[in-house]
Amino acid sequence: MRHWPTDRIDLRSDTVTQPTPAMREAMAAAPVGDDVYGEDPTVLALERRVADICGMDAALFLPSGTMANAVAVRTHTRPGDEIILEQEAHIYLYEGGGFAALSGCSVAFVHGDRGRMAPEAVRRAVRKADGSGSHYPDGRLICIENTSNRGGGSCYAIDDLDAIASVGRDTDCALHVDGARLMNATVATGISADRMLRDWDSVAICLSKGLGAPMGSMLVGGADFIARSHRWRKMFGGGMRQVGIVAAAGLHALDHHVERLAEDHARARRIAKALAQHPRGLVDLEGVETNMVYFGVEGWSGQQTLEHLAAHGIDVLTLNEGTCRLVLHLHVTDEDVDHVLSAISAIP
Ligand SMILES: Cc1ncc(COP(=O)(O)O)c(C=O)c1O
Repeated sequence: MRHWPTDRIDLRSDTVTQPTPAMREAMAAAPVGDDVYGEDPTVLALERRVADICGMDAALFLPSGTMANAVAVRTHTRPGDEIILEQEAHIYLYEGGGFAALSGCSVAFVHGDRGRMAPEAVRRAVRKADGSGSHYPDGRLICIENTSNRGGGSCYAIDDLDAIASVGRDTDCALHVDGARLMNATVATGISADRMLRDWDSVAICLSKGLGAPMGSMLVGGADFIARSHRWRKMFGGGMRQVGIVAAAGLHALDHHVERLAEDHARARRIAKALAQHPRGLVDLEGVETNMVYFGVEGWSGQQTLEHLAAHGIDVLTLNEGTCRLVLHLHVTDEDVDHVLSAISAIP
């Protein structure tokens, strides 16, 4: 449900959500303090809560998912190290090249299946300076994305999470999960976050996507990792002061907006099915596991598809020539989905 006047159904991203009235009330009532001094009780409560959810020692509140990943990469690596990433990973594609500029790392690509890397492919991608006559960089960090954004919101199977973690241990690589949408993965698979992350060193979780908070991400990991990350967060300019006012939105989201992600997933599936049934609809139905649908219309560019939907009051993103993306979130109702289905059936 939306709490502000609009005649648009905005499916461009799950980042477009606005804080609900109840979330705003929780924010207004939050006790705060100076978090750079470690004195904000609401931030401390959020960090403890998320660390417990993940089964890890500690957590750190940061302004964005990009900064959480950047701090994780910086803490896990030294300049000249290499990161193993799926070729369409958000860290590579959409974070301004921070891995290179801020951490001095190179990237070894793995071609994935809907954004997910196979454990053996990860193993093959790890290069070590030792024994290479100084030709190779040191592969030191394996990063996965769960769910995978460019993979259409796909989830890793638990066996693959465990197997990639054991590749990390065998090859002396740290293990980081870009879990911007980890809660979508837990709800879709029924596997708890602490089980998923059992063998992993760190995870970055966004509060400002499907969970509906206005900002904030959590970096979670072992006590030593988080202590070192605290310093990098400060250096990157992410030390914040009375930020409990926003951490309260994150606590509210964890209380009220996690289980409901299943509704977003069901609505994404309804839309994907309608596209699959349309004679010109192009969609990989099996690939629709969470709140995203990547799709196209045969014979139309992405822009033409976008314009058709826009004329019906529906906003989506175009990604490449033929492909659009729509994302379900907190403010999209069943009636909105009915409207999307009629716009799909109006495709000639
Ligand atoms: C998979 C993934 N990781 C990280 C981020 C970065 O989050 P932020 O926009 O808060 O920097 C995003 C944002 O869309 C994302 O989809």
